[in-house]
Amino acid sequence: MVRSLIDVWPDAVYSKALVETRLLGRTTVFVTDPRLIRTLLVDHADALAREEVAQRALVPALGNGILTSDGAAWRLQRRTVASAFRPDCIRALVPRMHEAARRTSERWSRRSPHEPFDLLKDMMRTALDIVLAALVSGDSALDVDAFEQALETYIGTTNWKMAYAMVGVPSWVPHPRQGTGAEAAAASRAAMAAIVARRRTSGVQGTDLLGMLLGARDPETGTPMDDAAIVDNLLTFIAAGHETTALALTWTLRLLHDHPEVERRVLDEIEVIRPDFTGDPACVDRLVYTRQVLMESMRLFPPAPLIVRRTTRPVPLDGTTVQAGSSVHIPIYALHRQERLWPRAQTFDPDRFAPGPAAERERFAYMPFGAGPRVCIGAGLAMTEALVVLASLLPSYRLRPRQATPPRPEMRITLRPAGGMSVTIARRGSSHG
Ligand code: HEM
Repeated sequence: MVRSLIDVWPDAVYSKALVETRLLGRTTVFVTDPRLIRTLLVDHADALAREEVAQRALVPALGNGILTSDGAAWRLQRRTVASAFRPDCIRALVPRMHEAARRTSERWSRRSPHEPFDLLKDMMRTALDIVLAALVSGDSALDVDAFEQALETYIGTTNWKMAYAMVGVPSWVPHPRQGTGAEAAAASRAAMAAIVARRRTSGVQGTDLLGMLLGARDPETGTPMDDAAIVDNLLTFIAAGHETTALALTWTLRLLHDHPEVERRVLDEIEVIRPDFTGDPACVDRLVYTRQVLMESMRLFPPAPLIVRRTTRPVPLDGTTVQAGSSVHIPIYALHRQERLWPRAQTFDPDRFAPGPAAERERFAYMPFGAGPRVCIGAGLAMTEALVVLASLLPSYRLRPRQATPPRPEMRITLRPAGGMSVTIARRGSSHG
């Protein structure tokens, strides 16, 4: 369980609509039918709260930001930041995304074609650059290496926190590497607090997400957010947005390598469109097939493979009642691999998302970004970013994975390639390409 939570799911989640189990002494209801998911996440959204297991993993680092809060506190924060994720705001970030992709390209051009590296780590750096640009305009005083290391260290301790919570160990009992995790959380928070302090001292509020948080007022009391709440949210956006997007890119690049005919179509599309991300950010919308590839990649390898909630009152579902206090799991990874929803479910086929069939598909059969009121606020940002990065790098570089078959996916809150994604890289058209 510490290694990967998907390994303890019952097999029935890949075929049945509703599976009730006693997992480690708790009633856990897995919901994998699109109609029932809709009923739960939309019609009974008011009966769902954050679940203790996930809270134990996230709250020590993220405090009570938008991801970890419920009720009025969540609503206020969601309303406050929503406008920063409007399509026009995302479009304004396209040149910065392209700049981050260009820095990645520079990194890659310095690499020897014989020296393997972990593509996931590399993509995390690219995604971190982009999310920092969106949040804090890439504050130049931040030590990005140290910050990245602290985040990674903290994430490395979260499965212990979740496993302890699942077996009912109280939160005051220390788990392995507890102290290291606590130090890493404190270091990440201190780095963000320093950015907030620098911005306050500068006297310029700014137009990035930090600027919006600084300017936000409670609509009822007019009170601004205090610094701790701002730090909670900055870290929340970084935590929710950087590893997930990096994973989407990592799995997609691996799938493209394994399916040269799909890669050819993507390269052809990019060649025809000749995207100019600086002069014409709207060109992202013309990468139609590349977008289909990303969507299909996130079907097979959804970066966030599980949504968990606790019911706060009895919820009628499919002729039965889910009791108050139950743990409700929506195993997105399994939902996306159900044969009855996805014929030839294990096959990578981006044409599933071609405009015709995709339009007919049930909304709740495909949920890489969740659904209902708590749907991912960064979905548009993530898709745009991934398209810009792919279209900027693919035409120049060819990737060679070290392992013949893709690594096993393992769940550590997110869906990671077990052991990383070791690759070498060569310029297209070179003798190594
Ligand atoms: C491919 C990339 C991404 C994936 C697959 C993804 C997936 C998800 C999913 C499944 C949820 C719902 C979780 C739940 O219901 O419990 C979620 C929520 C969230 N995501 Fe994303 N996400 C991605 C990128 C981003 C980015 C780039 C940002 C921001 C910069 C972001 C910020 C958030 C936030 C703040 C929430 C919580 C929303 C709320 O509770 O109101 N995500 N994400």
